[in-house]
Amino acid sequence: MTDVLIDVVEDPARVCAERLAEQARAGGSIVLTGGSTPKVAYEIAAELEPDWSRVDVWWGDERCVPPNDELSNYGMAKQALLDRLAVAPRSVHRMESVEQYARALEGVGTFDLVLLGLGPDGHIASLFPNFPTLDVTDRDVVGTPAGHEPYVDRISLTLPRLRNAREVLFLVTGADKADAVARALAGEASHDTPGSLVRGETTTALLDPAAAANLG
Ligand code: 6PG
Repeated sequence: MTDVLIDVVEDPARVCAERLAEQARAGGSIVLTGGSTPKVAYEIAAELEPDWSRVDVWWGDERCVPPNDELSNYGMAKQALLDRLAVAPRSVHRMESVEQYARALEGVGTFDLVLLGLGPDGHIASLFPNFPTLDVTDRDVVGTPAGHEPYVDRISLTLPRLRNAREVLFLVTGADKADAVARALAGEASHDTPGSLVRGETTTALLDPAAAANLG
């Protein structure tokens, strides 16, 4: 049994793009994820809904590199999504430092949609297995060394801030994630697998068949 609604589809990026476009139309707040998996979803979302003027855009984590660096999560989303929109989001909150982001989040309530990838080690955002950052409950934002490649310092939302979401949406593809998917979505909550510790008011996972292979 799992508290996550699992959706196994041949093209999860497209389904994710449809969900992003729907939220852009509805308005509210969207938290984007980094990594490589969501790039195509961002590109399709910009095609499906080129007017994002009703949403505030945030990030769940960032690598501490300049915004135009190829490792930047902001840079990836800018190229794949923001630069392709006809009408820009109501606001775009790039993670620049822990302090700046914490200030930006003051008074911000429940996010409407938090998009998350999943690392093969089970990490989400930049919250890595068994790192002390998993125990931080008194702040929205933390700085952390990387627990997975690329090994650059990171900024991440904390678990309480990520959980404060109407919907948490995991987008995960590939056989190398199958074990982490089973542990994060259908296993016991554990610091060994940070993905098992994040649930929103609703939680959905968009998976391709390879990533879903160990779900039983
Ligand atoms: C990051 C992330 C991270 C990512 C996973 C999956 O900045 O690295 O936001 O949590 O979502 O590592 O990344 P891939 O999609 O590249 O496998």
